[in-house]
Amino acid sequence: MRKGILLAGGTGSRLYPMTQVVCKQLLPIYDKPMIYYPLVTLMQADIRDILIICTPHDLPLFHALLGDGSHWGLKLQYAEQASPKGLAQALIIAEPFLAGEACALILGDNLFYGQHLAANLQYAWQAQAGATVFGYHVANPNAYGVVEFDGAGKVLSIEEKPQHPRSRYAMPGLYFFDGRAAAFAKTVLPSARGELEIVDVITRYLALGELRVDILGRGTAWLDTGTPDAMAEATQFVAAIEKRQGLKINCPEETAFRSGWINAQQLVELAQPLLKSGYGEYLLGLLDKQVFDEM
Ligand code: G1P
Repeated sequence: MRKGILLAGGTGSRLYPMTQVVCKQLLPIYDKPMIYYPLVTLMQADIRDILIICTPHDLPLFHALLGDGSHWGLKLQYAEQASPKGLAQALIIAEPFLAGEACALILGDNLFYGQHLAANLQYAWQAQAGATVFGYHVANPNAYGVVEFDGAGKVLSIEEKPQHPRSRYAMPGLYFFDGRAAAFAKTVLPSARGELEIVDVITRYLALGELRVDILGRGTAWLDTGTPDAMAEATQFVAAIEKRQGLKINCPEETAFRSGWINAQQLVELAQPLLKSGYGEYLLGLLDKQVFDEM
């Protein structure tokens, strides 16, 4: 089974007081907890064996929400990140889980949505070796890891939150690595902000000539949700599309059902406790509606 890591750590201090008691990945984006969105992105990449990394405080809460994942056809495990020491630390924590295998790492506050996303995810898995990251045109690249590449898609440089970005392409929090990622992460030294930076792991692949960058085009939405404004915008985005189409964005029960990981009977059981909010109605509606799309 393909392996995925979902990092839902961090202090969420940019969202205080909202996140003083509950971590941000458990806060809602419109009609579902934030963590559902990156979880479904992993599911769309055909990843069902997933390690969720979070603080010791939040671990029981994530477990209460998601359990072992079997009700969605998943195998979920949990690991603690005692203090937030950077994204690359997630790869070190995940080393026993990975056991030398390839993985996708996604951040718990990143939201992806778009018709072509499935193709991007497929492309990333096709690589036999190396790492695949994505580039996404943004208005404010200096808030992110920035990737510079030539016309042929060859990466020239990557930099974390540069003052003078060399391109407008940010690197979203979704990375595909071959089996060497944890070993590379172990060699990373803390940055000026005291974190093990994921760009330093990615730089190792770049130095070996084994880094690919794939562009998420303008038909794909990549939203992060790290500030109150970003959360509100993501909520409005999801609400607008869901209300217009009558189709939910990143609904794990739907993805599991459409993928054939759960059957109709299981879907009905999942819907029962959710009927009052309308979410359960939606799940039941999946049984008698024909939807012609590529979800
Ligand atoms: C992290 C990464 C950065 C990436 C971003 C995506 O930033 O360090 O390279 O572009 O996630 O959300 P952070 O959330 O630590 O500011």
